Amino acid sequence: MREKQAFGKMTMDPELSGTVVPQRVPYYKRKKPRICCGVCILILVSLGTVAAVLSQTIFKFRDPKVSLKDAKLQTISFRFDLAALSPLLSISISANVLVDNPNHYDFRYNNSTMLLKYHGDQVGVVELGAGTIASRKTVELHSVITVEALKLILNGLQDISSGIARLNLNAVIPGRVNLAHIIKRHVTAIVDCNIDIFLGNQTLKQNECKRTIKL
Ligand SMILES: *[C@@H]1O[C@H](CO)[C@@H](O)[C@H](O)[C@H]1NC(C)=O
Ligand SMILES: *[C@@H]1O[C@H](CO)[C@@H](O)[C@H](O)[C@H]1NC(C)=O
Ligand SMILES: *[C@@H]1O[C@H](CO)[C@@H](O)[C@H](O)[C@H]1NC(C)=O
Repeated sequence: MREKQAFGKMTMDPELSGTVVPQRVPYYKRKKPRICCGVCILILVSLGTVAAVLSQTIFKFRDPKVSLKDAKLQTISFRFDLAALSPLLSISISANVLVDNPNHYDFRYNNSTMLLKYHGDQVGVVELGAGTIASRKTVELHSVITVEALKLILNGLQDISSGIARLNLNAVIPGRVNLAHIIKRHVTAIVDCNIDIFLGNQTLKQNECKRTIKL
């Protein structure tokens, strides 16, 4: 385009109108870059295709999956606190946290925790530690979480022995997917499981779990 404009200008310029021969040079020059560009584009397209295929296959980033298994009541006791007019619950829950790394990269996690929540408030926490999960492997982390004298909010008319304490068990696994320090991605895998504790028969039931990923 630029050369065409220059060409146009040259013919317009009365001082240069005599020199017709040099005008052919730009035309010849134009052809060479075109061949070169063609080859370059072909190489770039090939490389791009290879990169796209790799990024969608072996190098594709996949979110780690965390799930909760075998949530069990280890100990349970409750008493009625007259001053607070509410039952106080002491429980210890064991569970296994499964972290699956579906990537072709290692997944390093650190500061992983298990949280116990009651009506949105954190009432217990236990550290699950740090580690590395090799490509396409799953690790199982055992955890025991204990909470003492949790003030239960029960329906006033409800008999404690028929009461249900609804809690949430959360496993929070912050980590990094890593390929030889070249490709890195920070990700936090979270699983939030709703559990019911039946005070009457002192059993625990794991309900639905929700998985989320934070980048
Ligand atoms: C985890 O984080 C702590 C700091 O919070 C650091 O000292 C430790 O080296 C980290 N561990 C791993 C395995 O990255
Ligand atoms: C780990 O947690 C500690 C305290 O909770 C915090 O100071 C530290 O920065 C965390 N480390 C990483 C690597 O997130
Ligand atoms: C415990 O009690 C609840 C209702 O109170 C019931 O749904 C559950 O099946 C019982 N569990 C066992 C193991 O008996």
